[in-house]
Amino acid sequence: MVRVPNKPLLAALALAVDGVYGALVADLDDPASIKQAAAQVAEDLLSFYRGDEPGWVPGILPGPPPDGDYYWWQGGALWGTMLDYRHHTGDNTYDPIVLQAMIHQVGPNEDFMPPNWTASMGNDDQGFWGMSAMLATEVGFTDPGDDEPQWLALAQAVFNEQTHEDRRVASGRCEWGLRWQVYPSNTGYNYINTIANACYFNIAARLARYTDNQTYADYAVRTWDLVKDLGYISDDWDVYDGAHLPYCNDTNRAQFSYNAAMLLQGAAYLYNYTNGAEEWKVRIDGLIDRMIEVFFPGGVAYEPSCEGAKCNTDMKSFKGYMHRWMGNTMQLVPHTREKIYPVLKTSVANAVKQCSGGPNGRFCGFHWTTGVFDGEIGAGQQMNVLGALLSLLAPDSAPPLTNATGGTSRGDVNAGSDEPVLPTFATVTVADRAGAGILTALLIAGSLSAFAWMSID
Ligand SMILES: *[C@@H]1O[C@H](CO)[C@@H](O)[C@H](O)[C@H]1NC(C)=O
Ligand SMILES: *[C@@H]1O[C@H](CO)[C@@H](O)[C@H](O)[C@H]1NC(C)=O
Ligand SMILES: *[C@@H]1O[C@H](CO)[C@@H](O)[C@H](O)[C@H]1NC(C)=O
Ligand SMILES: *[C@@H]1O[C@H](CO)[C@@H](O)[C@H](O)[C@H]1NC(C)=O
Repeated sequence: MVRVPNKPLLAALALAVDGVYGALVADLDDPASIKQAAAQVAEDLLSFYRGDEPGWVPGILPGPPPDGDYYWWQGGALWGTMLDYRHHTGDNTYDPIVLQAMIHQVGPNEDFMPPNWTASMGNDDQGFWGMSAMLATEVGFTDPGDDEPQWLALAQAVFNEQTHEDRRVASGRCEWGLRWQVYPSNTGYNYINTIANACYFNIAARLARYTDNQTYADYAVRTWDLVKDLGYISDDWDVYDGAHLPYCNDTNRAQFSYNAAMLLQGAAYLYNYTNGAEEWKVRIDGLIDRMIEVFFPGGVAYEPSCEGAKCNTDMKSFKGYMHRWMGNTMQLVPHTREKIYPVLKTSVANAVKQCSGGPNGRFCGFHWTTGVFDGEIGAGQQMNVLGALLSLLAPDSAPPLTNATGGTSRGDVNAGSDEPVLPTFATVTVADRAGAGILTALLIAGSLSAFAWMSID
């Protein structure tokens, strides 16, 4: 069951007073109409966010369970979505909220590893925040004050730490694979999954294009080769979820849209960075054709590995990323528009059609193929439809900046700490027992948390 926070209710009451009540509508041939619908979906999305209110933690959606539905990484994903919203619509209303949120979560080493979230810190979780910092760099989001961490340096910090050998497999068939979890104490430390490696690939590709530094591209290529050699990308361009040490051959063949989409977007950056290298064109075209078959049956986004049964809260947000990153691909690889745009359009039309629920009658559900609101609202559901609407605006909006084309964010090639130091805890005294018990519970809970389904064979 999903709790309806008070905030959507309050927003709805305000709407009722305004006399605006009714299902979401958008004329997909009219950018102004898409923007208007996006503004409404964004407003409803942020009704799930409380971090700008006293007593709540800035940057995160209510959680993690049991305190709320959302894990830490989804905060990072939320701000990426809002940065795309700002970029594609020109609406700066939420700038102060986004700025406060992202800066609050950078942590003491300025690397998106805040100690509060150690117990469930995956490389993919850190990666999602790093990608949002990279996006802030590329869309020219307000640079933080001089005494605060800078967007580009934050993305570089994530890249540098994840390049470090402590995060990687030392030898064997999966040598140099990026582990799912950062800390050995977490379940999933032995899972070498696509999403963690794809996040790293994505950030590396974007750093290469932004800074015009080949070293980043080399690491991105090495990551692609590794994931391909392990068979996580099949010869038919299926993208699987991952496999375990020691041999990485027990491949979990579940396909989730964000895995393929994150590889696609990274490949698009490398295509653009290499001025249209043929090998990246082949990979991009292969991935797109297969993604349309697997994730858009009948032209409408569908999450095949869970939607027929039950998707968890994390999975309920993947469609939005897929649409946004395909939108971005159209910008960086112009020939893909012909194939991508028509599919996104039918998908978005169906996404909008089912947004007729929640307290104001325009919240969205998760199931788009039915055309009917499914009765459950959530931040993921709103992010999905927002990401979908934005993807249709992408072709006509400014492509990601680079340092040479107007980007202003200051970088630091040495950002991040040298290695992920495990947090140290004071010696446990009798008086601390209760606290230690809580800590143990936290570590256990954490080890089962974000993306936990993936480590289940
Ligand atoms: C960490 O938790 C404390 C206590 O809830 C909170 O005040 C602080 O804002 C949190 N910091 C982050 C980065 O989440
Ligand atoms: C970015 O461009 C500025 C000049 O506009 C230059 O001083 C700086 O070194 C460049 N940074 C990188 C990482 O290339
Ligand atoms: C390019 O990136 C690498 C990897 O972070 C770094 O070591 C190197 O100093 C960078 N080169 C330049 C010219 O900034
Ligand atoms: C790279 O992206 C830019 C911006 O969208 C685009 O104009 C250019 O054609 C792309 N490069 C290639 C080789 O397609």
